[in-house]
Amino acid sequence: MNLTLCILAAGQGKRMYSELPKVLHRIAGKPLVGHVLDTGAALTLLPPIVIYGHGGELLRKEYRDRHLVWVEQREQLGTGHAVAQALSKIPLDSLVLILYGDVPLLTRETLEKLLAAAAPSGFSLLTAVLPDPTGYGRIVRDRSGTIVKIVEHKDAAADELAINEINTGIMAIRGEYLHRWLPGIGNLNAQGEYYLTDCVGLAVAENIQVHAIATAEPTEVTGVNNRTQLAELERAYQRRQAHALMERGTTVMDPLRIDIRGELICGRDVIIDINAVFEGRVRLGDRVVIGPNCFIRDAELGDEAVVLANSVIEEAKIGVGARIGPFSRIRPETELGDGVHIGNFVEIKKSRIAKGSKVNHLAYVGDTEIGSRVNVGAGTITCNYDGAHKHKTVIEDDVFIGSDTQLVAPVTIGRGATIGAGTTVTENVEAERLVISRVRQKSIAGWQRPRKAKKE
Ligand code: UD1
Ligand code: CA
Repeated sequence: MNLTLCILAAGQGKRMYSELPKVLHRIAGKPLVGHVLDTGAALTLLPPIVIYGHGGELLRKEYRDRHLVWVEQREQLGTGHAVAQALSKIPLDSLVLILYGDVPLLTRETLEKLLAAAAPSGFSLLTAVLPDPTGYGRIVRDRSGTIVKIVEHKDAAADELAINEINTGIMAIRGEYLHRWLPGIGNLNAQGEYYLTDCVGLAVAENIQVHAIATAEPTEVTGVNNRTQLAELERAYQRRQAHALMERGTTVMDPLRIDIRGELICGRDVIIDINAVFEGRVRLGDRVVIGPNCFIRDAELGDEAVVLANSVIEEAKIGVGARIGPFSRIRPETELGDGVHIGNFVEIKKSRIAKGSKVNHLAYVGDTEIGSRVNVGAGTITCNYDGAHKHKTVIEDDVFIGSDTQLVAPVTIGRGATIGAGTTVTENVEAERLVISRVRQKSIAGWQRPRKAKKE
């Protein structure tokens, strides 16, 4: 049977106090509903149905490149009403997986169990046993343990309120049942809402068994209603990722202080110190060490590369055994060769630096091509910008650049040349030369410093 995903995302999320529709708030840099869509994508190739209401334009804009079936629910009259809006898009002969756009951490494994449980009768529920079930719909079973109905908290009698098994809202149900039952569901209940959960009672009335799968991990089925819950689920998600890394052999100094907003792939024996933030796709080779407080986005680091504290690396490729930081900033389109050293307060932008070269202190290197074994002295600046255009600097192999040098681009420093400290290089330098442009030192004997006249 085909699987159709139906994602409920019409809720406004009043308690977020936000201009954004709730499902566009992010966990690990990805909208809540994006997590749901990605998990769902692993289960079926059919485009998911997304039921939207508030902020629909923003939602559709965010996912304009994704193949989704959009269904508007103008007024939020309950979960049953929401799914009813999508009936024309739901094939009779499909199994429908109902998901909530604001419940982001469900795993594929749990959903697969839920789908398997739906196989016999075409109806299964995901439940959870909570110490405090307040607010949730309760799963009502008869003496033999068979599910008979779901009663919403606000409609529940005292003995029903004592039930700890709750409805997570996630269910798998045959399209045919939805077509048969939803049009007949009423709203005569405490909230005046059309309850999707009424389907359970209707199934039982037709002798259709409803199977339940209980989640062991409550965060999987936790929804986001306010920013506190958003932060809690963010931490839960990050903890989950940290544990996955550790289980595959990465040392994470403190799993509570790592943030992965994208995909982090680690080789063997990688060590990640506290407060590292990874964004986009980051790949770390074997034995890489990441120091405390580093931010790394869309980068690839070779084996044994070391990033010392407080460094930022974005869109860069870093060679084997390279050493970056502390306090380095590697900006996009940078490629550093094997064994390159970039030190403190050095900014590298859109540059290639070949094997074994060093830029160790207080420098700016932009739009530059640096050969092998080059030493760039402290305080060196490539003047790559003339106010209108960017120009290129080329520094060939084995060049030595003295401290506090300005290289006014476009300029090429030939192989093996030496630039004296404090030089402003404005013309190309031939190979093996010494170039120096500073004023000769004067020495004046008997110099008297000016003094302030003393007041009476
Ligand atoms: C629902 C269940 C309840 C369950 C709880 C779990 C019903 C009647 N009740 O409660 O048994 O314990 O979820 O959280 O189904 N939504 C829409 N349109 C609507 C109403 C809701 O799209 O008209 C969406 C919301 O955005 C949200 C989800 O459906 O993603 C659940 O809605 P919410 O109001 O949070 O849950 P309840 O209906 O109170
Ligand atoms: Ca509600």
